[in-house]
Amino acid sequence: MQPWLVVLALPFCLHSASSRESRTFPCPEHDAILPCVCNHEAAIDEVHVDCSEATTSTQILTAFHEGFWPFDNLTEFRLKGYRKVSEIPEEIFGYVSFRRIFVETTDVVFVDQSAFLSCRDDLAHLSFWYGHLERFPWQSLPQFVSLAILNLEFNEITAIDSFESPSLVTLRVSNNRIATLKTGISAPNLNALIMNNNPISTIPSRFFEGMENLEEFQCQWCNLGPAISDGSMEFRSQTLKSVYLRNNIISSFEPGGISVVSPDAVVDLEANQITELTESIFRPVMDFLARGNGLLNVWDNPIVCGCSMAWVMLDPIILERVYGSCVNGTLFQELDPHHFEAFC
Ligand SMILES: *[C@@H]1O[C@H](CO)[C@@H](O)[C@H](O)[C@H]1NC(C)=O
Ligand SMILES: *[C@@H]1O[C@H](CO)[C@@H](O)[C@H](O)[C@H]1NC(C)=O
Repeated sequence: MQPWLVVLALPFCLHSASSRESRTFPCPEHDAILPCVCNHEAAIDEVHVDCSEATTSTQILTAFHEGFWPFDNLTEFRLKGYRKVSEIPEEIFGYVSFRRIFVETTDVVFVDQSAFLSCRDDLAHLSFWYGHLERFPWQSLPQFVSLAILNLEFNEITAIDSFESPSLVTLRVSNNRIATLKTGISAPNLNALIMNNNPISTIPSRFFEGMENLEEFQCQWCNLGPAISDGSMEFRSQTLKSVYLRNNIISSFEPGGISVVSPDAVVDLEANQITELTESIFRPVMDFLARGNGLLNVWDNPIVCGCSMAWVMLDPIILERVYGSCVNGTLFQELDPHHFEAFC
């Protein structure tokens, strides 16, 4: 046969073979895995399994352990909707692995540390979004060598333990009950750590030490303050782009309470209780930020515009990069620098 004939004939052969042999290929037989449903999304060549109809985790476990799965390297698992599945037990998928797992809007309270062991090489995206998880097995993270996105938002998690993950890029834990943060996290590829709306109150010293490529940190409504202690917000990343700390109760920083080494970061302290732009604290920060496109936002803080901020008023480059107003509403840029020169 001419090579071009082979090319023409191939799609036809594949098509007729699949419709003749099994309609569910490459999924298991439909009835063998109920209440789970498997679909081959032909257009994108992905296999998706949805177990949202399950009412117990045993039903899911049985579908994977007793059904015959002709292929074990699948794309996406979904469990969605409040249907009483309350735990994800050990090795729930048997030998089957997934690249993406979405357990969303569920009543899941517990996930076993070996729940997704079969996915350790392939899992890239794990989401437990809107559930009742009280703890996450942080110690299991090192085995997921491809895990890039972990989303645990809207649960009841109370702590982030120390963990190692060479692959993690995004960690979202907003809207939990996190009150305890452990140091000793090693996440060299972590770009985004989003943890708004948690009763954290204190970020321990050296918390960011193992996050040398962090670009975005958000901890708004985290009850941080009133004083931020030495080493608490020590950002080591040269590529830091934004730090959002709005709506906390921060009124002061101890020496070394906040430090950056990136010239392009936006440090956003809007809506806190800061009364003074103390030179010993903020000058080292501004010295970095003024080298690039960085800024400090202190809008909506009760700042007393006196001599303690003369260093800002007398340096036009720094003054341009500090956004805010005095407690009486006058913008920093509207104040007369001459007064600070003459009277401070
Ligand atoms: C599973 O498939 C993905 C994508 O095709 C591939 O990168 C990965 O190496 C496969 N994993 C295994 C264990 O075969
Ligand atoms: C607000 O306070 C600043 C600094 O004390 C002062 O220079 C300015 O005139 C005040 N503005 C108003 C509107 O009172």
